[in-house]
Amino acid sequence: EPEVIRDKEAMRRWSRGMRSHGKTIGLVPTMGFLHDGHLSLVRQSLTLSDVTVVSIYVNPGQFSPTEDLSTYPSDFSGDIAKLAAVSSSGSDVIVVFNPRNLYDYDGGRNKKTNGGGGGKVVSCVEEGGLGHETWVRVERLEKGLCGKSRPVFFRGVATIVTKLFNIVEPDVAMFGKKDYQQWRLIKRMVRDLDFGIEIVGSDIAREKDGLAMSSRNVHLSAEERKRALSISRSLAMAKASAEQGQTSCKELKNMIISELVGAAGRIDYVEIVDQETLQGVEDIKSGVVVCVAAWFGTVRLIDNIEINVT
Ligand code: PAJ
Repeated sequence: EPEVIRDKEAMRRWSRGMRSHGKTIGLVPTMGFLHDGHLSLVRQSLTLSDVTVVSIYVNPGQFSPTEDLSTYPSDFSGDIAKLAAVSSSGSDVIVVFNPRNLYDYDGGRNKKTNGGGGGKVVSCVEEGGLGHETWVRVERLEKGLCGKSRPVFFRGVATIVTKLFNIVEPDVAMFGKKDYQQWRLIKRMVRDLDFGIEIVGSDIAREKDGLAMSSRNVHLSAEERKRALSISRSLAMAKASAEQGQTSCKELKNMIISELVGAAGRIDYVEIVDQETLQGVEDIKSGVVVCVAAWFGTVRLIDNIEINVT
């Protein structure tokens, strides 16, 4: 079984010990409830670095008060078992960094704030916050796509990833293209702020029927899950149509919307954007990505597909 480290100072000591022995360190940040998408990032990290740190931390800083922090699924012992199975082959080294609260700066002495060690940690967007006031913002990339309906999400992600980078001090960090905007935003942050860390983007892991793997899929009823297939199906249709010569993004988006209407409870967005800038495009060119977010029951799902026509 992988070693579990809960204290951030112990985590930093472990990393520095590894580094002093010439080992390179890979980091896979997660919020737990691991599935094969997470595990593919872990496997990729194991091939790219000598030792791999998997962080499991549900970050309250990226949830707004109306979002699903309190119902976010968790299964720590299941996660450990899955990671043990990944590392069972050979000399792979995985450690799990599972801090209790990364916003607890005073060891619980200040019990008035939510992050002060007293009681349950709630969103830092709420009054009283987390005793934390420094935020990393990637000003343009945080605004579009998911940033529209989740205005505090990306500053929460950029900030916690910065904290994890500073604690773990990895050489390389893995992110899934499932969360395309998150991956692009972290790459940009690392470039803009000169983190000496290589950011690797990993392909979307899907269920056999096409549904993008997500920890949140567990909250879908059987019927909602069936309807949720409209996302991956419509994305595949749009890609095929673009490859057969359809260049109008308006037409492609309409094709996706007509598949989603009736299946999704509500469509958050359907957008076709440049893969790097995430700015909307009107005509298909090489290097775009089609992004969808839609609700099925109480679950908001996202998915995307890259199109590289020549
Ligand atoms: P989480 O949703 O747990 O995802 C952790 C990592 O796994 C992310 O990089 C995500 O893109 C990747 N991932 C999730 N589903 C995937 C799939 N089906 N295929 C490939 N990769 C997939 O994303 C977060 O956590 C958080 O925002 C975090 C980065 C940990 C910051 O709190």
